[in-house]
Amino acid sequence: MASVTSLSDSVQQRLAAALSAALPEAGSADPLLRRSDRADFQANGMLALAKKAKANPRELATQVVSHITTGADLIQDVEVSGPGFLNITLADRAITQNLAARYADGDRLGVPAKADPGITVIDYAQPNVAKEMHVGHLRSAVIGDALRGMLDFTGEQTIGRHHIGDWGTQFGMLIQYLIENPDALSGETDTDGEQAMSNLNRVYKASRAVFDADEDFKERARKRVVALQSGDKETLDFWQRFVDESKVYFYSVFEKLDMEIRDDEIVGESAYNDGMPETARLLEETGVAVRSEGALVVFFDDIRGKDDQPVPLIVQKADGGFGYAASDLTAIRNRVQDLHATSLIYVVDVRQSLHFKMVFETARRAGWLTDDVTAHNMGYGTVLGADGKPFKTREGETVRLEDLLDEAVQRAAEVVREKAQDLTEDEIRERAAQVGIGAVKYADLSTSANRDYKFDLDQMVSLNGDTSVYLQYAYARIQSILRKAGDVRPAAHPELELHPAERALGLHLDAFGDLVFEAAAEYAPHKVAAYLYQLASLFTSFYDKCPVIKPQPPKDVAENRLLLCDVTARTLHQGMALLGIRTPERL
Ligand code: ARG
Repeated sequence: MASVTSLSDSVQQRLAAALSAALPEAGSADPLLRRSDRADFQANGMLALAKKAKANPRELATQVVSHITTGADLIQDVEVSGPGFLNITLADRAITQNLAARYADGDRLGVPAKADPGITVIDYAQPNVAKEMHVGHLRSAVIGDALRGMLDFTGEQTIGRHHIGDWGTQFGMLIQYLIENPDALSGETDTDGEQAMSNLNRVYKASRAVFDADEDFKERARKRVVALQSGDKETLDFWQRFVDESKVYFYSVFEKLDMEIRDDEIVGESAYNDGMPETARLLEETGVAVRSEGALVVFFDDIRGKDDQPVPLIVQKADGGFGYAASDLTAIRNRVQDLHATSLIYVVDVRQSLHFKMVFETARRAGWLTDDVTAHNMGYGTVLGADGKPFKTREGETVRLEDLLDEAVQRAAEVVREKAQDLTEDEIRERAAQVGIGAVKYADLSTSANRDYKFDLDQMVSLNGDTSVYLQYAYARIQSILRKAGDVRPAAHPELELHPAERALGLHLDAFGDLVFEAAAEYAPHKVAAYLYQLASLFTSFYDKCPVIKPQPPKDVAENRLLLCDVTARTLHQGMALLGIRTPERL
């Protein structure tokens, strides 16, 4: 593994050195380098510095230029423009050599890993036991998985936490019903996901009906809650059956989503039960929480509801029960103190943002979240139907997640079949899954997470525009070019002059690593998506203007272009993989 210094970092270093030579009192000032349309890069840091030093910016820029060595190794040309910008053009040789170094570095493409990685705990993909998953759970899973892929790639250590909803008073009714009707859940271990969910649904409906109709049952269910909370063995065994049956269902959905979920990372609300009394005690002793009408609550100055009444966070109810907030507070103690997290991310619906605001603030007051630990609720927006209204079936019911995924795959199959030339039925089926699921993920990830997004299958599987299918086709097309090239293999020829389209593509490829680091730091998968889309577009225009195989260019030109093709393909593959999306070799 040999990491590659990006061209922009090299230029940045040269400029910074020239800057401090020209203006020693500026110390290590930032030349503010960025990609530009006029030249390859533009630096405008001279403006602010000149202002500070009471100097003429154009003069300062001219001086800086005099300290920059130009040549074929990196900077071909640099000129002062406008009020004191620097326009920088790189040498073709430097671009080709950079590509060659990335080419030699396998999957990492020369991107270095962080020297000082932290530990990020990502709370994502957290459905609820005995309940159907909905599109919101889909978003959490897709976004969380992508964030994790991106952070892992930077070298960060990530730990997943699937904070499933596996606790609460609703289990009293369910368990009591199951005790009285022990055959209601199959108890078979080989049920598939759909079967498991329909069993759970049946039990839920049946128990609800008895609960509503029968006062005595209601009372027995209430007692069952108490038994559950006091850790009664028999009750817990029945509760476990609901959890196990639900997991069969969850895993089937995650598998359909082509997403790996580890069992040891499914740590639901119930896992924090033992720690909750202590959480409450610590909060009360330190005065962070106070008793109010029997309940233990935390108040906030800036959080007020109707009639300007303060809205408290309820740590413990008056009847002694603990709820959602207590489990989240206890989870923070675990994640920071035992898992040594330096960052916490919660990929949870934006409608829970107030909950997290209060939980984080409470944990800060209690000293569990220190200045060294960041906590962030990556609140995502609502999934809307193609009509812009909250996503529902025609009958106005919530859409079953599995139906939705099946439909996406089915649509993808149509697209794949239409384009397929030499694919077998099996291959079409396999590609359809990769294209359909990829389409669902990409549509979600390419919109910034806090915005609502439209679930529009027609648009998602379209071959034109900003879709995963477009990117997957770009990848497959490059693979086909590489196959067709036969014996001609990618090879660097730094002495060759580059076409502007080759330069543009080469420079964009160089920016991959920096982009992933930026997107990971900002928790912004949509930036990776936008980068990849632009990469595919730059490739298309390169391929239009610069023949690779037909009409056949001279061998050295062909090899050099194949190098661009190969690095583009691998960058597409890696970038998509970070987002959890496959890139089939043929489509
Ligand atoms: N199970 C919850 C829901 O379906 C999401 C849990 C989010 N995570 C957390 N730590 N509270 O809404």
